[in-house]
Amino acid sequence: MLTIGLIASVIGVLICLQIDWFPTQGSTQADKIDTLYDVLLIVSVPVFVLVMTVAIYCVIAFRAKPGERGDGAHIHGNTKLEIVWVTIPFIIVSALAVYGWIVLDDIEAKKTDELVVNVTGEQFAWSFDYPQQDVTSNELVLPVDRPVHFKIHAKDVLHSFWVPAFRMKQDAVPGIETNTRVTPNHEGSFPVVCAELCGIGHATMRQQARVVPVTEWEAWVEERRGEGAAPEEGEDPIAAGREIFTSAGCNACHTLDDADATSQVGPDLNQLAAAAEDRQPGTNAEEYVRESIVDPPAFVVDGYSGDTMPGDFGDQLTPEEIDTLVQYLLGLSQTESGG
Ligand code: CUA
Repeated sequence: MLTIGLIASVIGVLICLQIDWFPTQGSTQADKIDTLYDVLLIVSVPVFVLVMTVAIYCVIAFRAKPGERGDGAHIHGNTKLEIVWVTIPFIIVSALAVYGWIVLDDIEAKKTDELVVNVTGEQFAWSFDYPQQDVTSNELVLPVDRPVHFKIHAKDVLHSFWVPAFRMKQDAVPGIETNTRVTPNHEGSFPVVCAELCGIGHATMRQQARVVPVTEWEAWVEERRGEGAAPEEGEDPIAAGREIFTSAGCNACHTLDDADATSQVGPDLNQLAAAAEDRQPGTNAEEYVRESIVDPPAFVVDGYSGDTMPGDFGDQLTPEEIDTLVQYLLGLSQTESGG
């Protein structure tokens, strides 16, 4: 039994270590967390295998013979065995707890020169505020290799701020500030997700974290501080509008073919120009759309609620960005209905 258990444990551990459990490593924390997981696997697999081996062995070896109807032998316990099976797990679990505590203490340690980012979760979008730079954004842009201290808030219900590539996950709780620290060490785009069921749009509460070289990040900060992402001379206004639509998280709740958005939390925005005329006779389409972005309860489409959409896009987006977005939404449907 012991031999079978040992062989099965070794095979089980080897299989487990072959499986690619984790997403890309995007932070200095990721490596330590993945190692911790591997250690947990190496310890857990033999425990599982040994318990199953004993159980299966007993089922086969002590099975009642045909016709045998008497009671089994009455066993009152075995002190030696009980001491062994309490002591060994106690040592294993205590050692893992200490190891886990050391890793946690290490990855959460305060660093010098931290970039502070205020993260705010609300149904159904994240927004990011850089108090040291005086910048607000719907896209999380971070310089590579600089420690970041996230201060996390929620406006309405519980959310959970999670960038799987960074590994660190922290609840966003209304009324209090929670914290987490990460040092991104790989450039690239990584999904930001919400890991706490927070309502109908929970699954679509996804944005992007972009880790870029320091100089690129500084340029981004400068640009955000100035005009925002209004289309520059020669830039395609449709592409600019589409980018704002996605980075601001509109796609989390609305359907819009041009932006590959299919969510149905809020009204469908295809053919918005025609709909705008129908819904609010008298208001011009542009005002209707602008007002609906800045002050969602102003006009509520039948079948939807006015307080589902965050009411602060007027602060999150610059006036130029809102212009671009309005023109984009109207321009698309005009082109479609005209063509
Ligand atoms: Cu926010 Cu789930």
